[in-house]
Amino acid sequence: MTTKEQVVEALVQLRDPQLNQSLVEHNQIRDILVKDKKVNMTLQLSLLNDDIQATIRNQIEEALKPLGIEECHLRFRELPKESGLDEMQQRRQAELKSQGQGMPALLSPDSKTQFVAVASGKGGVGKSTVTVNLAVALARRGKKVGIMDCDIYGFSVPDMMAIDEQPELVEERLIPSSKFGVKVISMGFFVQDNAPVIWRGPMLGKMLKNFFNEVNWGEIEYMLLDLPPGTGDIALDIHQMIPNSKEVIVTTPHATAAFVAARAGAMALHTNHDIIGVVENMSYYECGSCGEKDYVFGRGGGAKLAEELHTELLAQIPLGAPDNHQSEADYAPSIYKEQSATGQTYLEMADKIIAKFN
Ligand SMILES: Nc1ncnc2c1ncn2[C@@H]1O[C@H](COP(=O)(O)OP(=O)(O)OP(=O)(O)O)[C@@H](O)[C@H]1O
Ligand SMILES: [Mg+2]
Repeated sequence: MTTKEQVVEALVQLRDPQLNQSLVEHNQIRDILVKDKKVNMTLQLSLLNDDIQATIRNQIEEALKPLGIEECHLRFRELPKESGLDEMQQRRQAELKSQGQGMPALLSPDSKTQFVAVASGKGGVGKSTVTVNLAVALARRGKKVGIMDCDIYGFSVPDMMAIDEQPELVEERLIPSSKFGVKVISMGFFVQDNAPVIWRGPMLGKMLKNFFNEVNWGEIEYMLLDLPPGTGDIALDIHQMIPNSKEVIVTTPHATAAFVAARAGAMALHTNHDIIGVVENMSYYECGSCGEKDYVFGRGGGAKLAEELHTELLAQIPLGAPDNHQSEADYAPSIYKEQSATGQTYLEMADKIIAKFN
């Protein structure tokens, strides 16, 4: 003779169509009575209509047929609203708990992570170059460093640092890729063959949240955020998501560039982000043979901007690509070697930034 336990076991796969949870596990099947080849039961479902009832009936009959059950008397009841909500909330909470967070660890009040966003008014002034080199310089000073490439459409960090390895998925969380002692997460790791990212605002924001929630960063002392150019959605999301982030503003020495960069600075101030300094990039070209400096893009933009934003000019970085060679083991197209003049400038910048946080 078929027992109640056998019936329960046979129905364990049955799911509430709306909540997508096991009816047995959530105690939504009640009053089970088995008599000979007949079974009686009450089903509490989060949503009731004819289609759902017919589907569930079908599933139950199919599941119980192998037990020799020929007749199923089913009573359908609506799951009490409160308990439905509770279940969902509990599930969400359990999910969050299993991910070890209500709030991402990096953003929790006792987090030791200092956020430094690298921003500019316009594109192509060298934000990403400054971000990756500052990160590497901080790591060269023994700090635990991460980069979030927040330029979701125009990601460039993986290529600049020549990172080929994708983040690894461990226990449902991503372990960031790492190079030169810097942990990196970028949209670039998730896009196949340099395909364009065609997303609207809300998706961009969601991706940023994933960079916090779905990534196991481990311990990070300095998290650098490479922002997209300008004062758009992402910059705003970042401002809201990380209210205590500090900012570094990058500009070229040209007066117009500095004027545009001032807008990014104004936005930082408006959202109460402290600006910790200005970096003037592509400041001059130094002649290799005579050592003379040629100020090809004008002069003074960085200093003027720093003054306007009541902050300091952290560094002036000359024009010149890193003198790396592809054959070298630690080759990366945008990383200056530690011994090079520009590499030293970045180390001095790192020291100034470390000093600001001490
Ligand atoms: N000091 C420099 N000397 C020579 N080339 C540089 C220098 N800084 C940056 N570049 C080059 O200029 C280009 C733009 O730099 P980068 O991508 O860092 O700017 P960005 O501000 O991040 O740009 P975007 O706004 O597109 O994100 C790159 O090709 C980079 O290699
Ligand atoms: Mg960039």
